[in-house]
Amino acid sequence: MKKIHLVVGARPNFMKMAPLFKEFAKFPEEFEVKLIHTGQHYDERMSKFFFDDLQMPVPDEYLEVGSGTHGEQTGKIMERYEAVLLKDKPDLVIVAGDVNSTIACALDAAKLHIQVAHLEAGLRSFDRTMPEELNRLMTDAISDFLLTPSPDGDMNLLKEGISKGKIYFVGNIMIDSLVQYKEKAGNSNILEEYGLKPHEFVLITLHRPSNVDNKEGFLKILNAFEEISKSIKLVFPIHPRAKKQIKIFGLNEKVEKMKNLLLIDPIGYYDFIKLEMEAKFILTDSGGIQEETTFFGIPCLTLRPNTERPITITEGTNKLVKLETEDIIKEAKEILNGKTKKGKIPKFWDGKTAERIVEIFREK
Ligand code: UD1
Ligand code: UDP
Repeated sequence: MKKIHLVVGARPNFMKMAPLFKEFAKFPEEFEVKLIHTGQHYDERMSKFFFDDLQMPVPDEYLEVGSGTHGEQTGKIMERYEAVLLKDKPDLVIVAGDVNSTIACALDAAKLHIQVAHLEAGLRSFDRTMPEELNRLMTDAISDFLLTPSPDGDMNLLKEGISKGKIYFVGNIMIDSLVQYKEKAGNSNILEEYGLKPHEFVLITLHRPSNVDNKEGFLKILNAFEEISKSIKLVFPIHPRAKKQIKIFGLNEKVEKMKNLLLIDPIGYYDFIKLEMEAKFILTDSGGIQEETTFFGIPCLTLRPNTERPITITEGTNKLVKLETEDIIKEAKEILNGKTKKGKIPKFWDGKTAERIVEIFREK
């Protein structure tokens, strides 16, 4: 019997870990799996909603770290998770993505000589001003199993000198959740709730520090929204970081004045997927949403100068947009005028990634 910890902390971790949790549960004689939640995200709408929608049990350990500076948050997670590891002594720790919880828990485990698997390994934006890029680089450097979502991940890792034997191209685990819950999401009544019509609205998410933590940049984006909202309704489930910054910058009034902008709290997984599937297009700076829109074939404009997910551009429906008001408006208008990018679904974005991963660990 092998003891495994699955670590989650922030919103994008939940839909990546849920399929794996369920797949391991099919082999109770071989694996004892515990779910560890660091508490990096803690609002109901950033955490509990996802446990409900993704049918996940209450975590075995909840570390309650909450928010803080990078040093505070990472340090607190490390201190609290180390105590759990010393008590529980798992054989393997699996971490996902690129958030502070990912590197903190991976580093704890590696220092205690516990094997680490990194789900979504190898992605690189090559932009070290992003905290996520540092988290990715460091987590990959200390992981024993590098589970990649796309071949660019394998190439990046090989270039960094990671041995081929540690790298496994398993596919995109986020898509497992989409495949599993697409139908349930289809039944969400969020369109009726907000009086929205299919393909007659744009879905927006924003939370990157580079977009929302400086007033000038955030204003450029909001000015573009103002213009686009003259042609189509905008739906913006707002991330707590962006909400906080709007208040700090005194931009509430500007946002409230936009009559065609529907500002709502973050929404649960089914409701969000429903909006994704029915949107005319999506404006975002999220990592995961670039992938989900590629899977659904919905046009995605990513408000960033780079992406760690280039396959969503080369194969999918994603396009990067320069952070200038005029550029954002121009790209949006092209889509509104019917000029959309056709894409295809990348290899192994098929809903079977968790199966492939568990098979690897059964063989080992
Ligand atoms: C984090 C991740 C980012 C990921 C994003 C997904 C890091 C460094 N960043 O960014 O990679 O894309 O999550 O959503 O790990 N807050 C609340 N309630 C919550 C959580 C946060 O109000 O439940 C507020 C707090 O004011 C907090 C701020 O949001 O200071 C930022 O939270 P934090 O976890 O530090 O980073 P995110 O911006 O959420
Ligand atoms: N998401 C959601 N509700 C929202 C916003 C996002 O369910 O209000 C989901 C989205 O479908 C995707 C994931 O959250 O599965 C992406 O998380 P986020 O954008 O917070 O993080 P990132 O991917 O940028 O790290």
